[in-house]
Amino acid sequence: MLQGGNGERDSFSSKFGVIAAAAGSAIGLGNIWRFPYVLGQNGGGAFLLIYLIFIAAIGIPVMMSEFVIGRSAQLNPVGAFKKLAPGKKWHLIGLLGVVSAFIILAFYTVVAGWTLEYLVQSVKWMIMSNKIGFSQMDNHAVRSFFSNHYESFISGIWRPIIWFLLMMFFTGYIVVSGVKNGIEKYAKVLMPVLLVLLLVLVVRSLSLEGSREGLRFLFKPNFSTIREAPVKIIIEALGQAFFSLSIGMGTLITYGSYIRKKENLATTAVNVAVADTLIAVIAGMAIFPAVFAFGIDPGEGPDLVYITLPVIFQSMSGGLIWAFMFFLLLCFAALTSTISVLEVIVAYFSEQLDMSRKKATVLATVSVGFLGIICTVSPKFFGVFNASPDLLLPLGGFFIVLFIGWFLAGNKSRDELSSGGIYKARYYRLFIFLVKFVAPLAIAFLFALGVYSRVITLFPKIGG
Ligand code: TRP
Repeated sequence: MLQGGNGERDSFSSKFGVIAAAAGSAIGLGNIWRFPYVLGQNGGGAFLLIYLIFIAAIGIPVMMSEFVIGRSAQLNPVGAFKKLAPGKKWHLIGLLGVVSAFIILAFYTVVAGWTLEYLVQSVKWMIMSNKIGFSQMDNHAVRSFFSNHYESFISGIWRPIIWFLLMMFFTGYIVVSGVKNGIEKYAKVLMPVLLVLLLVLVVRSLSLEGSREGLRFLFKPNFSTIREAPVKIIIEALGQAFFSLSIGMGTLITYGSYIRKKENLATTAVNVAVADTLIAVIAGMAIFPAVFAFGIDPGEGPDLVYITLPVIFQSMSGGLIWAFMFFLLLCFAALTSTISVLEVIVAYFSEQLDMSRKKATVLATVSVGFLGIICTVSPKFFGVFNASPDLLLPLGGFFIVLFIGWFLAGNKSRDELSSGGIYKARYYRLFIFLVKFVAPLAIAFLFALGVYSRVITLFPKIGG
C-alpha cells in the first residue's frame, strides 16, 4: 500500500485493494463492540432506523467528500486543505482531525487490547469448563460468571495496560514497517471469515430459547423510546454512523490520497458503507437474541458484547475453537482500524512537520500510549474519550461537506468524482444537494442540540 515521504507517492494497487483498505478501516470494534451497546442503550429498532438514514444521507456524502479532497490534493488532511485553499483557515479542520485521532486511538486501542485478554481467557474457560461447571449453571449463573470476570479484569490495573500497550506496539510496528501490504492481503481473506463466523453466531444465538425478543428489539422501531430521550438518541446515532464509517477525521482523506485516479470514488464509498453497515447489523443479530435469552440488560453499556459473546460461546459445541477464532479475527479487524487512525497522525507529522516516517510513528505511538494508559486506569477518562467522537466527528464532517459544497470549485469535485470523465457521475446533482444543504444543515442542527444537551447535563440549572 502506502509509503509516504520521499519520492513518488504510493497508491493502492487495485480496485479491491482500495475497498479492502477503506473497509478494513471502517469495519472494526465500532461494528461489533460499539454499535450493539450504543443501540442497546438507545432503545433498539428506532435507533437502527435513524442510524441507517444517517449512513445514507450524511455518511456516504461525507465519505465521498473526504475521498475527493484526499485524491485531488494527494496529501495528509492538513496539507490537503492548505493546498486546495491556500492562505485560508480550512487546514484547521485537518488539525482538528489530528487531535481527534489522538483521542480516538487512545480509547479504541484500549478496547482492542480486551480482545487479547478474551483470546487468552476463552482458552482457559473452555479447557476448565467442567471444573467451572457451566453445564450445571442456569442462565443467570452463566451471565453472572462472565460479568464478574469482566468486572475483575477491567478494575485490575496491569492486564488492561499490558494488552493495550501490546496492541499499540503492533499498530506502530505495522505503520512504520509498511507491512500494511501484507495486512491487506490477510484482510481480504480474514474479513470474509469474520463474516462467516458472525453468521454462525447468529444461527446459534437465534436457536436459544427466548431469542425472538432480541430480533424484535433490534428491528422493530419503538418510537416511544425516542420520545423519552430524543436528543441523546439522535446524537448518538449520528456519532456512531460517523465513527463506524471512519469519517469526519481525515482518515479517508489520507486514504483517498492513495487512491489511483481511475478508481470510481462513489462506488467505493457505497461499497464500503454497505459492507460496514451489514457487519454492524449482523453483529446485532448475533448479540441481541442471546442478550434476551440470557436475561442480560440490553442497556448494559460498553461491557455488553464482552459479556454476551462468551455466554454464546460456552453454549456452543466446540465453543473453544469458535471463541478463539472469533477473538483473533476481532483483534485483526481492530488492527486494520487502529493503523488507519495512526496513519492520520503519522502522515501529518511526516509531511507537515518534516519528520521521518519512523520518528513520526514512534512519537505518535508513545504519546497515544500515555493517553491510553490514563484511559485504562480511569473509567471517567475512558468515558469522556469514548463519548467524544459523537461530537468531534460530526464537527469535522460539517466542515468537510461545507468545503466541498461551498468552497471547492464545482468542476473540481465533479472532475474527481467522474475520474476526469471516465465515469458519468449521474448522481452528481444529488450529491451536491446533499453536501450543500442537507448534510451541513442536519449536522449543524444536531451538533447544536448535542452541545446544548451536554451543557445542561453538566449544569442542570441552565435547563431549568
Ligand atoms: N471505523 C472504525 C470502527 O468502526 C474505527 C475507526 C477507524 C475510526 N478509523 C477511524 C473512527 C476514523 C473514526 C474515525 O471500528
